[in-house]
Amino acid sequence: MDSTTLQAATFRTENRPTVPVQRVRQPADIFEALFQSVQGGEAHARPTLELTPDSPFLPFLEIGFALRACLEKPARHDYLLERLRPHLSVMIGTLPASIMPMGMLPKLAPLPGFRQLEEISDAEVRDWLIQEGGLIYGEMQRFELENYFDAIKPFLPPGGVMVDLGSGLGKVVMTAALTLPFTRCIGVELLNYRHRLAQERLVRLLTLARQGLEALPEPLTLETPLQLPSGVMANGRHLLDLGSRILFLENDMFKVDVRGAGLVFLYSTCFGPLMDAISDKLARELPEGALVSTTTYPIKHPAFRLLQSHAPGTLSWTSVMIYQRIGPQMAQPASEARYLHQPDADAWEARARADLHAMTGGSA
Ligand SMILES: C[S@@+](CC[C@H](N)C(=O)[O-])C[C@H]1O[C@@H](n2cnc3c(N)ncnc32)[C@H](O)[C@@H]1O
Repeated sequence: MDSTTLQAATFRTENRPTVPVQRVRQPADIFEALFQSVQGGEAHARPTLELTPDSPFLPFLEIGFALRACLEKPARHDYLLERLRPHLSVMIGTLPASIMPMGMLPKLAPLPGFRQLEEISDAEVRDWLIQEGGLIYGEMQRFELENYFDAIKPFLPPGGVMVDLGSGLGKVVMTAALTLPFTRCIGVELLNYRHRLAQERLVRLLTLARQGLEALPEPLTLETPLQLPSGVMANGRHLLDLGSRILFLENDMFKVDVRGAGLVFLYSTCFGPLMDAISDKLARELPEGALVSTTTYPIKHPAFRLLQSHAPGTLSWTSVMIYQRIGPQMAQPASEARYLHQPDADAWEARARADLHAMTGGSA
């Protein structure tokens, strides 16, 4: 199919009704059971971060504690707002979610040596807000991912490695490994508990796959022709070797080399202020021809050509852009202003004061 012929009208707009798989009669029943098993991660319970002296999140916890200490004392609200105000362009929501009562910061006393907000620089607060925004969790719905792989399919050579940078509970990685004949699908996730949940989900997926394969009336062999859910033809190896095609890494996306990837997926809706750094990394590492998709935020690096742009409400609730790495790399100075929004500071302050007042009953 020509890349430009995939119109919004061909996209699904909702999930099909889910019918639990009671009996496995054919490989399509196994696929259905496996897809069902990877849904629903957006509703997972968010545990708080661990507060230990060797936590990799210690700097994050320190600044979070300092901000939260101001949030908890009405007399400190003015100072909190003064410190947040210069960084509205990188903030998601009115106040940072992780310092709220249900947020990711543990309800414990700060460790000795943790600084007060006065001792923390503006640059540190800004970097903290950027990281905090990136840790927000969300997943595409099943029908949106079906739309996504339909859109990406015409551009993909057979095989290849798919990488999800910020893979959360692993839904996209496992959906990709089921839907298309990728050689390998790799997820990179920063938060330990999300990485662990992805691995648990992978164990469940592989258990279900094994049970499904055992229940088939006709055994599937490595060479049996197999139609994948995307319509692409593969063979039995696709399901029999599923476990060797999926890998989850607990790591910072900026520390993982994606040199071998043919497709990089980014659910970048909360990565706005990181887009320059991500684009530079991908331009440095990806081979010519590799694909990258983003949500909400574009890549504006000259090493990438836009292949498709899907408006919000067509492929997904958010916009989805598909890019291809082209030509030799060209240096491009980071220009933050291109990607960031600048909300009305006075309107923000009024909302923030109302939220603080509702939370603490203070004078803000
Ligand atoms: C919006 S979620 C998307 C999850 C998954 N890609 C999906 O679409 O279902 C973004 C994920 O990126 C992770 N993340 C944020 N910064 C990261 C980083 N520097 N390295 C790796 N993962 C990161 C967050 O913890 C979060 O789980």
